[in-house]
Amino acid sequence: MSYFTFSNATQDQRRAFALDVHLGLSAPQKFIPSKYFYDENGSKLFQRITELPEYYLTGAEAEILKTYRESLAQYFASEPFALVEMGAGDGEKTKILLEHFLARGLDFHYAPIDISESALSELELSLSEQFPTLSFQACLAEYASGFSEIDNFSEARTVLLFLGSSIGNFSFPEIKLFLKTLWHGLNKGDFALIGFDLKKDIKTMQAAYDDKEGITKAFNLNLLHRINRELGGTFNTEKFYHHEIYNPKESAMESYLISLEAQEVYIDALKTTYRFAPYEAIFTERSYKFSDSSIRELAHETGFEIVETFKDSKQYFADSLWRVVK
Ligand code: TRP
Repeated sequence: MSYFTFSNATQDQRRAFALDVHLGLSAPQKFIPSKYFYDENGSKLFQRITELPEYYLTGAEAEILKTYRESLAQYFASEPFALVEMGAGDGEKTKILLEHFLARGLDFHYAPIDISESALSELELSLSEQFPTLSFQACLAEYASGFSEIDNFSEARTVLLFLGSSIGNFSFPEIKLFLKTLWHGLNKGDFALIGFDLKKDIKTMQAAYDDKEGITKAFNLNLLHRINRELGGTFNTEKFYHHEIYNPKESAMESYLISLEAQEVYIDALKTTYRFAPYEAIFTERSYKFSDSSIRELAHETGFEIVETFKDSKQYFADSLWRVVK
């Protein structure tokens, strides 16, 4: 394997997973951190979500990248750059840019970072097949640690890609902290292209997170399966249901797993039994929905200037190009 990894792989990861599950299931409002969605099974399910007709986000962003790839190329063409992507996943949308940048003869190195080893190894294979001349190095890591390592070896200008709606999975204060951390790792004049899912008709959003085929339900329940598989949990997933709701006070879609009855779940790795009351919820994900003003506020309060914000024809989604001010 040719990835960079930063931890002593599986054992540390399992310990961290166990600890996070314990903290989350012991809290008064139970939760499981959303980064644990993306094991091999979860990454595959998420890939299927991105292909669903209801999940408008991927199509809208692909439209933006196709429409504005030349505008982006013009911003980046003047000097060599490192294209660092956080949460690259299967890279399908990024390939729209890679193909265009290569055809335009731009001088760049691609560094995809992802938390899922299976997604990364598939991405590596497909990149070598589709783009034999592309210079790239995949990196297995969580966003922050991966980014700081890559920043160390890149002297060139950095163009950071944070596509999709992952930034919305943080809370608003967490987003600010995250962007400030990025800002510290970047140099004056570096770019960041960041995906923001926009506020829209609630039915459209609701359908995107509760599709007819039940793929999103399977994705959400995979968290419990993963606890069973990796931590020796005893969740019966038929006793939980997938609940999605738009919270207008928070401007966010919220995902929950709700216990259908009073039950106890033992997790062997933690030697602990967790109790669920009837209809008690585990909070699993927030997907924040942005407005032009919230995007502006984030950029300005974290040390970036907005160069241009690109939207799809339905105004469902935005990719906002920011430049580091120092
Ligand atoms: N980052 C994606 C999003 O917020 C992940 C996602 C899609 C998701 N559907 C979901 C997370 C359902 C939890 C439940 O859009």
